[in-house]
Amino acid sequence: MSTTNQTTTNRSTMAADEIEIPLGPDGKPIDPLTDHEYDGIREYDNPTPGWWWLIFVITIAFSAFYVVFWHASAYGWSIEESWASAQRRDFIRVFGKVGTLEPTEATILESQNNEQFMTIARATFIGNCAACHASDGGGQVGPNLCDDNFKSVRSVEDIYKAITEGAAAGSMPAWNTRLSQNQRVILAAYVATLRGTTPASPKAPEGDVIPPFPKTPPAGATKPEQQRADAR
Ligand code: HEC
Repeated sequence: MSTTNQTTTNRSTMAADEIEIPLGPDGKPIDPLTDHEYDGIREYDNPTPGWWWLIFVITIAFSAFYVVFWHASAYGWSIEESWASAQRRDFIRVFGKVGTLEPTEATILESQNNEQFMTIARATFIGNCAACHASDGGGQVGPNLCDDNFKSVRSVEDIYKAITEGAAAGSMPAWNTRLSQNQRVILAAYVATLRGTTPASPKAPEGDVIPPFPKTPPAGATKPEQQRADAR
């Protein structure tokens, strides 16, 4: 195959004798050995390529920026914050079009036909009410909202009132400072739709059986935005 590399030290000449280093046309080894040896084990001198080093250094530099930006600066944001601001933007987008929803029976019932309202209300319910009423409304600390028995509620407006003012000296908290009027109106609409559904583990009925809530008007002509736009 090839001759030994004369320019290397004795030790590496010896090793090169045994390993047979291939030489290029200029007489220099194509793949030179490094000059260290451990228990007879030697290695070729193959440095990592420049582009690899560049990426390595850039990632280290980037990690410093990343840590400072996301964990130590006022400019970074968390997933919770971006969710909250997306939700705020969505409220503004949705509610900006409808103006203020009044807590009347008609508006509450009409809101049940608005899919977007019901999606927002469901998320609000899961986030604020599920702790006491269970995520499906079956009840825990708070009463079951799916059965026909109610303590203070007799109408859909009463649901709004219970949410707004709270009940039982605060064991049902008042939400007027924590949720906007629109949120409370569509939440009342959503809670009314829970009645008659079958929760996973229903709490025993509390209060009196009350007459059914009025039927939701058919979808279409009843969208609150539509009605408001017509009224202008
Ligand atoms: C800290 C626990 C708790 C939370 C959170 C809570 N509730 Fe309640 N809720 C109760 C209790 C307890 C009652 C029963 C009050 C009473 O005895 O009149 C109640 C009653 C109600 C009622 C009236 C039920 C009836 O039988 O008359 C409605 C409607 C209601 N809650 C809706 C909600 C909604 C919507 C939310 C979220 C915005 C919510 N609650 C959050 C504990 C809670």
